[in-house]
Amino acid sequence: MSQGVALIVLGTAAAAAAHVAQRIADAVSRDPATVLGLATGGTMLPVYALLAAARQRGDLSFSAATSFNLDEYVGLGLGHAASFAAFMAGALFGPVDFDPGRTHLPNGLAPDLMAEAARYEAAILAAGPIGLQLLGIGRNGHIGFNEPGTAFDSVTRVVRLSFSTRAANRPFFPVGEAVPEQALTMGIGTILRAREIVLLATGAAKAVAVAQAIAGPAGPHSPASALRHHGAATFVCDRAAASRLDPRLWQRSVHA
Ligand code: F6R
Repeated sequence: MSQGVALIVLGTAAAAAAHVAQRIADAVSRDPATVLGLATGGTMLPVYALLAAARQRGDLSFSAATSFNLDEYVGLGLGHAASFAAFMAGALFGPVDFDPGRTHLPNGLAPDLMAEAARYEAAILAAGPIGLQLLGIGRNGHIGFNEPGTAFDSVTRVVRLSFSTRAANRPFFPVGEAVPEQALTMGIGTILRAREIVLLATGAAKAVAVAQAIAGPAGPHSPASALRHHGAATFVCDRAAASRLDPRLWQRSVHA
């Protein structure tokens, strides 16, 4: 495996999500004022459900933490059920006790999108480095909405979504409503400034993207391969998502 990338393979998607939730809980317990980088998407739902349960038991508090989400669709805001703002409100911000003034997403409704991208990048810089950045991975290897071809030093900006990304997200939109063609996303360079990065990949649909990111040639064709340059990035996978990797890379890391 390439230098700087750790790989943890767990038997099931539930076990992989539990591992990631525990890492987030540990980061917040160690430093209650930590800055978290958060992701949306189906992969994250079990992680956020576990964090919500820990909050409910009184085991965990986010009241002093700050968060920055990776991305948002252009044209959508909290009022649209498929927006990432609505996803976060339902999955995490509602159930746990974040201070609403300290949770951040790019504003997909901003009248000047380039100014909004610059504002968001500056806000992340001003908050100090993100301590723990959570990532999912697209079937085409995207991280955030950084599609194949993105420069590894890119920052927050407006991007055009690929056909495959729009198709993957179509189920979240009402029938007959088009998936937005553009989004605001942190850049790969923005992501790489985080102190620690944890990418969660579950399911066979992610297996090719994971194998390319970890063991294929690194480069902009595989946005997630940028994590190999980071030094403190971990891929947490279930068996299905790791199934296209040489088992010698991960056999010893399978738990339960
Ligand atoms: C979401 C994001 C995306 C997703 C990726 C996987 O904020 O930035 O990169 O992490 O598209 O999505 P799911 O988990 O729905 O397969």
